[in-house]
Amino acid sequence: MSAHNVIELDNVTKDYRSGHNVVHALRGIDLSIGGGEMIAIMGASGSGKSTLMNILGCLDVPTSGAYRLDDVHVNELSKNELADLRNRKLGFVFQGFNLLPRTSALENVELPLLYDRSGRKRDTRAMAAAALTRVGLGDRLDHHPSELSGGQQQRVAIARALVSEPTLVLADEPTGNLDSHTSVEIMALFQELNDQGITILIVTHETDIAQYAKRIVEVRDGRIIRDERLADRRRASEDLRNIPDPDAADAPREPNAAAPPDAPREPVRGGRA
Ligand SMILES: Nc1ncnc2c1ncn2[C@@H]1O[C@H](COP(=O)(O)OP(=O)(O)O)[C@@H](O)[C@H]1O
Ligand SMILES: [Mg+2]
Repeated sequence: MSAHNVIELDNVTKDYRSGHNVVHALRGIDLSIGGGEMIAIMGASGSGKSTLMNILGCLDVPTSGAYRLDDVHVNELSKNELADLRNRKLGFVFQGFNLLPRTSALENVELPLLYDRSGRKRDTRAMAAAALTRVGLGDRLDHHPSELSGGQQQRVAIARALVSEPTLVLADEPTGNLDSHTSVEIMALFQELNDQGITILIVTHETDIAQYAKRIVEVRDGRIIRDERLADRRRASEDLRNIPDPDAADAPREPNAAAPPDAPREPVRGGRA
């Protein structure tokens, strides 16, 4: 274990109150995440994944317990300090991409830099272009979201998450709106970025997507019921060769028709919630 953890959750609970009802969404979460990890948070609907993400993302605070992000005690911060910490330390990727529609890829990625009032970020256009190049979209800077495929839009969103050089990238069901081939492409990109040292946390309910992480944490009823490192995680770039690309000109109509009988097993897509 490294001495410095990016994230430390110590017995974190979260209660939601409405009238006389209390929902115990998190019931005592202990979690340490070190730099360079790629971690998948799994769990059924209602298990507490989004609540956990909101706390990790400094969008909400625990009812009890401690949260440290990069050694900063998040509990003690004001709303403004929370927002500032979020801008400096975290990048977000969402299921629905959340891009501004009438805005170019470059401007979408530049946006978080314009919110940063510290004055540290000067050449924002060059930084945005570099982030887009890093995700393979260096030739799509001026395209609007409607002119891009779903996978390309998610790449723009990933570039937007990376552009402020965050300590941690948080992705909530990032492949939930994508077909199988594109999902694995996006996971290949996450693995590539993780190989470059970026710490990534992905929420997913899809078992095959979680297999690309280095570590899987499973939540049930607000508690962690499983936390294990994958000895031989799957490489998305290798799996891509065995998954037909629906957009390719010679793509077979039947899924899997191109895969030879002895091909490594095609990841089975989990049900979409
Ligand atoms: N704002 C809220 N107010 C009241 N209850 C909530 C709220 N958000 C979530 N919950 C409840 O907390 C539990 C965990 O929800 P959530 O974290 O959204 O789970 P998941 O993301 O795994 O589906 C659920 O029982 C849900 O109904
Ligand atoms: Mg959720």
